[in-house]
Formats: sequence, C-alpha cells, structure tokens
Amino acid sequence: MSVKYFTYKGVNFSPGSYSQEGLNFAENEFQVQDDDVYIVTYPKSGTNWMIEILSLIKKNGDPTWCNNVPIWLRSPWFETLEGQSQIKDVTPPRVLTSHLPFQIFAKSFFTSKAKIIYVMRNPKDILVSLFHFSKMLCLYKDPESSQEFLEDFLHGNVPYSSWFDHVKGWIQMKDNKNFFYITYEELQQDLRGNVVKICEFWGKELNEAQIDSVVNHASFTAMKDNKMSNYTLLPQDFMDTTKGSFMRKGIVGDWKNHFTVAQNEYFDKVYQEKMKDLNMSFFWEEM
Ligand code: A3P
Repeated sequence: MSVKYFTYKGVNFSPGSYSQEGLNFAENEFQVQDDDVYIVTYPKSGTNWMIEILSLIKKNGDPTWCNNVPIWLRSPWFETLEGQSQIKDVTPPRVLTSHLPFQIFAKSFFTSKAKIIYVMRNPKDILVSLFHFSKMLCLYKDPESSQEFLEDFLHGNVPYSSWFDHVKGWIQMKDNKNFFYITYEELQQDLRGNVVKICEFWGKELNEAQIDSVVNHASFTAMKDNKMSNYTLLPQDFMDTTKGSFMRKGIVGDWKNHFTVAQNEYFDKVYQEKMKDLNMSFFWEEM
C-alpha cells in the first residue's frame, strides 16, 4: 500500500487517521480531566497490554467489560480522528491512550492533576514488531526490506518519528509524582508485582483475588483469544490479518531472530550516540 506521511510540528503522521486540525485540537484544545489516566507510548511498546491491564483494574478485576467492548473504545487515542469521536462515550475515570511525543501532548495536562503511565520497550523489539505491523496496517507504509526499515526507524522516518526523541522527551517527567514509567520487559518479568504498583499509583485498592484476575485476563494468551482485544474485529482493508497477527509473539528479545550481526552493531552504535546525553540506564540494557 502506498502511504505518504505528513508532518505536524515536525512529527510524522499517517493521513488515514490524523489531520492537522485533529492534532491541533489534541495539543491545544483537548480538555484533560483531573481524574484521567493517560497511557502514553511509542507505538509497539505494549500500549494495548497496558490498556487491558487498566481496563481490568478499573473494573476491579472483572473481565466482563474487556470481553464485551473493543479495546479501542475502552481507551481511545485522543489524537486520532476516530478516537476524538469515541471519547464522549468513555465514562470517568477515563483511561485514554496516546502515542504523542512530549512536546505536542495536550497542553491542558500540564495544569491538571491527571496521571500518565509511560510504557517503554527495547527499541530493537519495537523495530521488529513495527516491521510486521506495518505490513498489516493500511495506515503505515509497507516496509520494503529489513535493512531499509532499520534505516527508517533509526532516522525517525516512521509514524510518530524518532523513538529516541520520544523517550528522551517523556523521561524528563520521571520525577513528577503524576508520572509512572515502566518497561515492557518489567511487565514480562513480574506482571503481578507491577499490577500492584500500578494500582498504588492510580489509587485503586484491589484485593488479592481481584489482582489475580487482572493478571490472568491480561496474559498474552487471554488477550490473543479475546476478540475484543486482538483486533480481529477490524475490517480487513484497515488491518489485514491475512498478513499477520496483532497479537504476534509477545516475547522479549525477538530481535535476535531478525537482526544480522552487522545490523545489531549498527543499531548499537546509533543507540549509544543518541542516548549518550541521557543520564540513565534502561531495564533492557541490563538484561
Ligand atoms: P510483538 O509484535 O512483538 O508480538 P502495542 O500495543 O504498543 O501496539 O504493542 C504490540 C506488541 O505488544 C506486540 O508485540 C504484541 O504481541 C504485544 N502484546 C500485546 N499484548 C500483550 C500481552 N498481554 N503480553 C505480552 N505482549 C503483548
């Protein structure tokens, strides 16, 4: 599929679900509410996993909502045209989603008491996940080769532009009490422990059985089997499931099955260069 991205304030977007007006609305006019929680991610970092976790926490571990309402209606993206029309039906406390970089996020957030959960993932696994996803989603350019896609990713020639800029932008918030950050890898390592931390951050008190229910229903298998969460309800001409699966592998380190030695060395070089001014290390670097 031939797709040409446009830019809003230097960031790439796909014309299918975004417009200059819609992005301007998201940045400058959208009204954040004090009890909102925002899931903010760079694409393919575990966004929908976090939506499922928060949907279950919102309902005290009861999966009925997750089993009956599509995931994108439970937590719409407030910068997309579809999301902006869906938000009116979300009941408070709203859990909303966004891939927006820090510099163009809703301005009204910064004077509110709303909270953000920022999920990050090893960019090598993001690249692999995005490569496969781009083949399925009509909004994204079809990657021609893995080498070309590697260059595009490292140079930010993909939707939402540079992963490096996204992380460096948002991580400035790390000491803010309304900002909680976590990695996909930490969720994989200890989902239950992190569900407890997320409840504390959100101010939700769940008992042990309710927490167990969140953990069980947010597992990869449960989400893959739930048609409300696995994106198979979308029309084929929007997300072509003959070309792959949204719930693809759900593992840490799949990049090792895809990168050549040379690609890995090149990635590491660019990563070190771009991240060197950031005085922190990430969980995936220690693994
Ligand atoms: P893979 O393509 O590596 O399998 P996003 O929601 O940000 O688009 O991210 C999608 C990625 O998260 C996909 O990664 C998907 O399989 C993975 N994912 C979704 N739900 C998950 C879950 N419950 N457990 C683990 N991984 C999950």
